[in-house]
Amino acid sequence: MRVLVTYYSKTGNTESMARAIAEGAKGVKGVVATVKRVEETSLEDLLESDVIIVGSPTYYGLMAAPVKRLLDESVKIHGKLEGKVGGAFTSSGGSATGAETTIMSILQALLVHGMIIQGDAEDKHYGVACVEKPGEEDLELCRRMGRRLAELASRLVKD
Ligand SMILES: Cc1cc2nc3c(=O)[nH]c(=O)nc-3n(C[C@H](O)[C@H](O)[C@H](O)COP(=O)(O)O)c2cc1C
Repeated sequence: MRVLVTYYSKTGNTESMARAIAEGAKGVKGVVATVKRVEETSLEDLLESDVIIVGSPTYYGLMAAPVKRLLDESVKIHGKLEGKVGGAFTSSGGSATGAETTIMSILQALLVHGMIIQGDAEDKHYGVACVEKPGEEDLELCRRMGRRLAELASRLVKD
């Protein structure tokens, strides 16, 4: 079971979230989790992963350009990500200043790919968002997200 956490980060906030998500995923039996910057993520990396979790800082209420570049590039493998589990997360400068629209902008692309998105009934329903540098509580939510998506993928593989 391979989990890929791919992210863009200019000042390190989204990167810290990415590492915590991978940590959470690694806690699930049989999971190998990799963290990669979007600039270093290849289409092969996407194809090889069972779970693809994408992170971006909130830029004008949307994903940052390097994230969009990878997603646009992924048209070359369109149809081949169908049925994989996906998720999105972000760090923004404020609260209610575009974080959820950023997450949704990423999830829209993953849905176009035919990927499976799991919400969270308890908290951060669309995916984890935090304001600037994640605190311990945010990092715990990230670990929870990684664990839940890895568990979902494990259940799908079993069925
Ligand atoms: C070009 C640019 C656009 C931004 N747009 C927004 C925005 O629309 N809403 C917001 O809350 N923060 C915005 N920010 C702030 C970043 O989302 C925030 O600082 C984030 O924590 C940076 O993450 P990083 O450390 O992973 O780069 C913007 C920052 C930049 C550089």
